[in-house]
Amino acid sequence: MRQVGNGFDIPDWFPNAHPPMPSSVQYGVAPNARACGYCHLPDGSGRPENGTLAGLPADYIIRQVAAFKNGTRLSANPVLSTNSMHTLAKWVADSDVVTAARYFERLTLTRRNRVVEVTQVPKTRIEVMLYAYGEAGTEPIAGRLIEVPETFARHELRDPGVRYITYVPIGSIARGRRLATRGAAGPATSCMACHGADLLGKDAVPPIAGRAPSNILRQLINFRTGARHDSASVTMAPVVEPLTVSDMVALAAYIGSRAPKR
Ligand code: HEC
Ligand code: HEC
Repeated sequence: MRQVGNGFDIPDWFPNAHPPMPSSVQYGVAPNARACGYCHLPDGSGRPENGTLAGLPADYIIRQVAAFKNGTRLSANPVLSTNSMHTLAKWVADSDVVTAARYFERLTLTRRNRVVEVTQVPKTRIEVMLYAYGEAGTEPIAGRLIEVPETFARHELRDPGVRYITYVPIGSIARGRRLATRGAAGPATSCMACHGADLLGKDAVPPIAGRAPSNILRQLINFRTGARHDSASVTMAPVVEPLTVSDMVALAAYIGSRAPKR
């Protein structure tokens, strides 16, 4: 547990599963600039409450950290510790962001989520920023997206191999596919128009396929509420403007169930 809690020499359970980490990813700089790999994991697979950095273009990573730093990218929920990135960005040296961005860009993301459509969902409890299985029994999903680690202990141990189940209402994936393909406000707002036919990104537009659905949903809400309002995000504004929460859940389910690599 001492190793698991160390943000300045991060737990690295599978050192042969990724290239050698630069210092910014493995050690950071004490006492404030925690290592990127502490939260985003050494293989960049991240955790649902932060983000999957593996395979994101280095320029995109650098721009996002700059947006966290200058306050144009915040979390729609002001008390949520997703804002930890905002604090961290103020402490980390620009050159460390660059070495980290180049490292994560080269890694290949493996999808760790299974999207399951249900009417009843196992009961869950909230563990800081995450759902975990709670007492026995089920309850109506009631329009929600509920993402849980299959094994909460492995999530807590920062095991990059832990898998997640994303419960969504029945019909979400098909509805998400329709919305993604046709666009909620016409063809110009089709996700494929900018993110590419396979949603694996195009030029400056990031890949979104196969990433944690709860994170995709959170980002759509961040764009929709304006919490995320850096200059590049204006492109997403007309896309999310007509979306209801239930549309966003459907989109997150569909996109999260796509293959994250060609
Ligand atoms: C203390 C935990 C923590 C550390 C350490 C950390 N991050 Fe993050 N990071 C987060 C959280 C939480 C989010 C999600 C923020 C949100 O949803 O808006 C995030 C999001 C991001 C994103 C956005 C990803 C996307 O898909 O848009 C980038 C890029 C990023 N971090 C880069 C870094 C880099 C580079 C480092 C190291 C210099 C780092 N992070 C260190 C917690 C952390
Ligand atoms: C007109 C172009 C355009 C369209 C259409 C578009 N996007 Fe985007 N999207 C972008 C750009 C550009 C960014 C990066 C924004 C930034 O840098 O802040 C982005 C970012 C995102 C992100 C954040 C990814 C991350 O790693 O944080 C998500 C999620 C997303 N888009 C989902 C969608 C969905 C779902 C659709 C379809 C309903 C869609 N986008 C349609 C241009 C577009």
